[in-house]
Amino acid sequence: DKIQAFRQTLLSWYDQNKRDLPWRKDHDPYHVMVSEIMLQQTQVNTVIPYYQRFMAQFPTVQDLADAPEDQVLKAWEGLGYYSRARNLQKAANQIAYDHAGVWPETASELTKLAGIGPYTAGAISSIAFNQVEPAIDGNAFRVFARLFCIEEDIAQPQTRKVFDDVIRQVIDPKRPGDFNQAIMDLGSSYMSAKDPDPEHSPVADFDESFKTGRVLEFPVKTKK
Ligand code: ADE
Repeated sequence: DKIQAFRQTLLSWYDQNKRDLPWRKDHDPYHVMVSEIMLQQTQVNTVIPYYQRFMAQFPTVQDLADAPEDQVLKAWEGLGYYSRARNLQKAANQIAYDHAGVWPETASELTKLAGIGPYTAGAISSIAFNQVEPAIDGNAFRVFARLFCIEEDIAQPQTRKVFDDVIRQVIDPKRPGDFNQAIMDLGSSYMSAKDPDPEHSPVADFDESFKTGRVLEFPVKTKK
């Protein structure tokens, strides 16, 4: 059916065209957590060298837990939003000591870690642990709003549930992490905010906003 065709088209495109990023070399939850926290307010190209230095300096979650805080903050210098770094080290301590180094695998348990909200919990649980969980950041809001012409206002907190329900219908239950990362790659290319190219998108046939000439109407976002 149509949903299966969408999954297959998206994942075949991703398999052939995914960006070669240092945090995509394996599915280690520590690698996923650090990269996702860095990527929250910072562009991919800026994050890459920070991520590589961070992993050289703090190779495991235990190393990060045991590092002096000033070293962690120094490694973060230039990325900004330093509470991210403090929370990341707190989360490392929770995993290393509260959980004895055994990672929680569900999104609901992961949100109990410092600095881990619904987006990051969805990303870690799907990418590292194959859990069927959406990872809804600004890119995912835009991509799904356009694909399905979702008219709800993404500035309203209750709209998250609408997208969560839609994504749970279409996410590939066999490859949820790749599905979520494929959506991220679409959102940074053919379905970008500033310079979209929907007619050449691998999922153009499934893109209701493109098919009806309404790409730039989505996502709907009122000023807060
Ligand atoms: N942005 C947020 N998470 C990402 C990821 N895993 N890959 C690429 N871009 C991202």
